[in-house]
Amino acid sequence: MTVGIDLIHFATADFYLGLDTFAQEKGTALEKYTQGIGQEKMSIAPPDEDIVTLAAKAADPILAQIDKQAITAVLFATESGIDQSKSAGAFLHGLLGLSHRCRTIELKHACYGGTAALQMANALVHANPKEQILVIASDIAKYDIDSSGEATQGCGAVAMLVKTDPRILAIEPGSGYYTDDVMDFWRPNHRTTALVDGKYSTKVYLNSLKQAWWHFVEQTGRTFEQIDAFCYHIPFSRMTEKAHKTLTKTVGARLSPATFAQQVQPGQQYNRIVGNSYSASLFIGFCSFLDHAPDDLTDHRFGLFSYGSGCVAEFFTGKVQSGYESVLFKQQHQTALSQRQSLSYQDYLRFYYPNIEDPDHTVFAHHNPGPYRLSAIKQAMRQYQNCHKTSP
Ligand code: HMG
Repeated sequence: MTVGIDLIHFATADFYLGLDTFAQEKGTALEKYTQGIGQEKMSIAPPDEDIVTLAAKAADPILAQIDKQAITAVLFATESGIDQSKSAGAFLHGLLGLSHRCRTIELKHACYGGTAALQMANALVHANPKEQILVIASDIAKYDIDSSGEATQGCGAVAMLVKTDPRILAIEPGSGYYTDDVMDFWRPNHRTTALVDGKYSTKVYLNSLKQAWWHFVEQTGRTFEQIDAFCYHIPFSRMTEKAHKTLTKTVGARLSPATFAQQVQPGQQYNRIVGNSYSASLFIGFCSFLDHAPDDLTDHRFGLFSYGSGCVAEFFTGKVQSGYESVLFKQQHQTALSQRQSLSYQDYLRFYYPNIEDPDHTVFAHHNPGPYRLSAIKQAMRQYQNCHKTSP
């Protein structure tokens, strides 16, 4: 029995801040961003967009193709939680009108949460092949103004349908994982922005990659040469090159520049213009690879490396299924990205500091043009609007 990703679609906010605008504002050379960290744009969520509306937007095209009442679980990964008790998955479940015969939970460990949700879904389907699970990874990356992380913000959500006989990626058994209690990036409960020790975080990321890889090899007996393409967690797209260089050095592989690029470059395209989307970032990179690869990827084995600061990491593999191209959402991804509106730095600040006098009672101005929006908070309860249902 094969289990894995049957459908995958991602969504991001409808606004972005160009790193050119950012560089001009900060008086920094643009090349620091375009070459140094490999970023061009970062998606910025308006105040009436949150992880639930992003997730619903990501899930919509998938649910339009299936019987949504057949979803048996919603596993919602995020580190941008909106409630300390109720899961974001429950808000999403209501907004999407899923069956009550469904389990729903929120999972967290920084950017690793999405992989934890995917592996949990994989195990649940192996235990009961009738399950059809909606895996969500949705995050808004927000750092302090003028901090080192500010240029690496972004947001996005990915939705994946996990079931038997998947049409896109069959997840292979065995993976390598690694946990270490470190303080490279964290966000205490009272903060809306993350704290980060930037340079240290990149070192911990690369060390975790080596550790997870060695464990993967021990567990599966697979070699570097048996993997055709690599997707890494992408906080900024240059990190992919640092990661792949580290892995090739670790295994002693000598790749030509063309092979090196072929193994990772298609996976960097979307993240370069979306920015960091934390738990969703690895999977937006996977969508990017599928949508941009120049050749047919059928039977290609993908190596996927997930890293969550703090830190937890996992390296696992999957095989691309024949006919996958006919079920991709390439056109939808590219149209949505190209239709985003650019923000001035002042507009960005207006979204960054929303005017909320009372966090228990707020009506949000309508900025978000998407199908779902956070319209208000009444008596500390979030009110979502399904714009498909709103009469003109
Ligand atoms: P920084 O101090 O802004 O930048 O920090 P820098 O001075 O180190 O420059 C960055 C690169 O640009 C350097 O290249 C420079 O040489 C180059 P490198 O040495 O890395 O090869 N550069 C230039 N290149 C061309 N022309 C120029 C120029 N100037 C400089 N004129 C840092 C960069 C990534 C640390 C910062 O952006 C940051 O703190 N980001 C947030 C943390 C982060 O993304 N960490 C990544 C690993 S941890 C992770 O991925 C987990 C995470 O997603 C969270 C989670 O798990 O939930 C973050």
